[in-house]
Amino acid sequence: MAESSGSAARADDQSVVDAYFEARSSYWNDIYGRDDVLSLIVQQRSDLALSWVDELGLFPGSTVLEVGCGAGLMAVALARRGLRVYATDAATAMIDLARTRVAESAVSHLVEVRKSDVHALEFEDATFDLVIALGVIPWLHAPRAAVHEMARVLKPGGALIATVNNASRLNYLLDPKLSPRLSGARKFVKQVLRIRSGNGSATAPSYLHSCEEFEQLLNSARLFTEDGRTLGFGPFTFFGRRILPQGVGVDLHNRLQRLADRGVAGITSRGSQYIVVARKDPVHRAAEWGEGHGAALGRLRRPEGETLPSFPSGVGP
Ligand SMILES: C[S@@+](CC[C@H](N)C(=O)[O-])C[C@H]1O[C@@H](n2cnc3c(N)ncnc32)[C@H](O)[C@@H]1O
Repeated sequence: MAESSGSAARADDQSVVDAYFEARSSYWNDIYGRDDVLSLIVQQRSDLALSWVDELGLFPGSTVLEVGCGAGLMAVALARRGLRVYATDAATAMIDLARTRVAESAVSHLVEVRKSDVHALEFEDATFDLVIALGVIPWLHAPRAAVHEMARVLKPGGALIATVNNASRLNYLLDPKLSPRLSGARKFVKQVLRIRSGNGSATAPSYLHSCEEFEQLLNSARLFTEDGRTLGFGPFTFFGRRILPQGVGVDLHNRLQRLADRGVAGITSRGSQYIVVARKDPVHRAAEWGEGHGAALGRLRRPEGETLPSFPSGVGP
């Protein structure tokens, strides 16, 4: 994706995104209690990220940077694991929600909530054992700069857990209005979506990335993927209109997710989110693997029938 040049243009880009999330802060609070398809996908994304955090086996007191913390649920969940969390977000309304949630938790002594833009983090190099950014990169005007910033503040050997919106998501391929193949001049992996906010006024662009593009971006920052999955099917639409009742849509999502988790060809790389856990490798592995040929893509291309590790309990169907 072309990154904006000029600090004025970049500030303008970010202020549009900030205005969008200032108007939508309650949505990102409530989404963890709802049961529609989109909300379930967000909840499953969070659960999968936490299961990976557990697998990392970080010592209590290890330092975590959360970028785009939203309403603060992940920050509290991380602190409950004994981790020391810096929860950051660019939107003031999100910071307020996160501060309230943290203050009401029993782990407020482990969490600091700060306003911060991931494009220019104020932390020293090699500060954190883990950086986590769920649902943030799609909104960034300069994702390359942001990924390099997140890599910079990671300790060597530290982990990044992050998501992009998958350009090859199944639900877009099935809707002529959204399908890149049928959208004339629109470019597939750089499709810009104008999404209405709750009150219909504020809009902001979000960006799609292919899995390969994201792998290359990570590799360029010396981050190497250890696991990567696509997650989330639906909501299914035709010419932008929802075509399935909620229960049917949830059931279809669950069925497709099961196939994706089993590595079924044609499905496993088609979820709406691509979520990865990557390491800042102290060793020079880029030459060994080659740019853009991380472990996750190998997994995504597993032959039909070969199973992927299933979701941990409480995540997915
Ligand atoms: C889709 S929400 C996801 C919130 C949370 N991570 C979650 O999964 O519930 C994206 C979040 O990223 C934040 N954000 C957008 N641009 C940002 C930036 N440049 N730096 C830091 N946070 C940003 C937004 O304010 C918003 O809270």
